[in-house]
Amino acid sequence: MKNMPGDSAEDILTLRNVCKYYKDRKGSGHLLKAVDGVSFSVRRGETFGLVGESGCGKSTLSRVILQLEPVSGGSVAFEGRDFARIGRRELRAMRKEMQIVFQDPYDSIDPRMTLEQAVEEPMAIHRYDRSLRKTRIKKLFEDVGLPVNMLNRYPHQLSGGQRQRLCIARSLALSPKLLVCDEAVSALDVSIQAQILNLMCDLKEEHNLTYIFISHNLGVIKFISDRIAVMYFGKIVELASRNEIFTHYLHPYTCALLSAAPVLHPSMRRERMLLTGDVPNLYNPPAGCVFCDRCVYADSRCRSEAPVLRGYGEDRQAACHYAGELPLKVNWGGAPC
Ligand SMILES: Nc1ncnc2c1ncn2[C@@H]1O[C@H](COP(=O)(O)OP(=O)(O)O)[C@@H](O)[C@H]1O
Ligand SMILES: [Mg+2]
Repeated sequence: MKNMPGDSAEDILTLRNVCKYYKDRKGSGHLLKAVDGVSFSVRRGETFGLVGESGCGKSTLSRVILQLEPVSGGSVAFEGRDFARIGRRELRAMRKEMQIVFQDPYDSIDPRMTLEQAVEEPMAIHRYDRSLRKTRIKKLFEDVGLPVNMLNRYPHQLSGGQRQRLCIARSLALSPKLLVCDEAVSALDVSIQAQILNLMCDLKEEHNLTYIFISHNLGVIKFISDRIAVMYFGKIVELASRNEIFTHYLHPYTCALLSAAPVLHPSMRRERMLLTGDVPNLYNPPAGCVFCDRCVYADSRCRSEAPVLRGYGEDRQAACHYAGELPLKVNWGGAPC
């Protein structure tokens, strides 16, 4: 199967059974399974979308991918090299190759730095040749559409969109291969969102980038992604190409997520597949499928046996015992774009 985790040369990042558990802060001894057994590969040059409701573990997964936090189990390999098996020097070199763009530009930039210093900071940390820095910073400003005469300004003098452009310039300073964008446009106005998304599409070509694009917003994910993984409470429940996932989804949760997305015109009314039941407790998840308490199709098997993510033809995977057999309404018609 093509998109099962493997060591294919076209894969830039491979996650195998990655888990990240946190201890209960109240000391009950329970573990919070923020990420629980996630496996997928990201292909070089693609935009891999990760979508799911708030709190389902997307940011935790991004921190683990970038080695900002250690895994509790499983492995992450970048270009075939497993993070757990390499030395500190190699890890430092690999960190340069993977960068992150966060949601809130206010939080990710030191307000006391000028824009030039903000972009230079990662270069200084990684001892980038001093004599080349100025030229590179100017080129990055041009690439992200910031006027070069702003170099000596401060972040508070920028608009939200300009601040996100600055963050993107900073993340590109060390010529990374992989950019993880965690809700990178979620805090912006819709018109600015579109500008930044278009910019990111252009930069991907110019800088030979691979993206992992994380968002709770289906419209954003649909616009930018080649393949999409749907995450639900720490697990990937479905993974497929953009076209497949918006029309021939296999998992009831994907169906519910799509049906809940707003339609763009009042004449486009449609039925909704409403979620019933309780949101699972991450400290005490159900024994079977994580979605079973909210799924209208769940039976005793779903409540006792956890489904694994299985392949269904070329490039499609779903974690549901009854994938392909359920009477899910095909194509909600008004899927956002
Ligand atoms: N450092 C931490 N300690 C304890 N719990 C955490 C920590 N980081 C995240 N969590 C919990 O993990 C779950 C997933 O969070 P997060 O990855 O931020 O979700 P998302 O980005 O999808 O909104 C949440 O229930 C959150 O409270
Ligand atoms: Mg998040």
